[in-house]
Amino acid sequence: MRNDMEEVLFTGEQISQRVKEVAQSIAEDYKGSTPLLVGVLKGAVIFLADLVRHIDIPIELDFIATSSYGASTQSSGVVRILKDLDVPLQGRDVVIVEDVVDSGLTLTYLRDTLLRRGAKSIRIATAFDKPEGRKVPIKPDYCGFTVPNKFLVGYGLDFAERYRHLPYVGVLKRSVYEVE
Ligand code: PRP
Repeated sequence: MRNDMEEVLFTGEQISQRVKEVAQSIAEDYKGSTPLLVGVLKGAVIFLADLVRHIDIPIELDFIATSSYGASTQSSGVVRILKDLDVPLQGRDVVIVEDVVDSGLTLTYLRDTLLRRGAKSIRIATAFDKPEGRKVPIKPDYCGFTVPNKFLVGYGLDFAERYRHLPYVGVLKRSVYEVE
């Protein structure tokens, strides 16, 4: 699988160490509360699973799945909810958990939507932040690593649904995704 990579950016060990630190920050900030961690399917599953095992305060988990409308999303920022949350948000402290923030459109839409549903507070935790990709201004509250604007796979990030399970994150070789 590493043959498909141009470069490994972060090893599994590096990610694991950083995820523990992020978990400790979350646990510290939410002492006395029981935050609802909302994983955005599918990419966030790996990060979420690692993260929550190092959060030593009570939390609850839920999941949401989104899909963009392709080109129209670029202009409108409208994101379609494919699988909605199971629990009501009224009065809850919510942490949205993502694998990557790129344009910021998904998170902006999700944050606004969940706030409208009555969440008391919303913060964003992402494994990776790609600030160069931003189309709308949004800043994650918790971030594992800031990454360059390259085609990254692994640790939840996919190319055509593949590579998500890799324990490390790497830059995919152009030859893998560019058809001659
Ligand atoms: C990815 C990622 C975020 C979103 C970030 O999801 O998991 O949800 O894109 O991009 P943005 O900041 O430009 O909105 P994707 O739609 O690829 O689904 P996936 O998680 O199933 O891979």
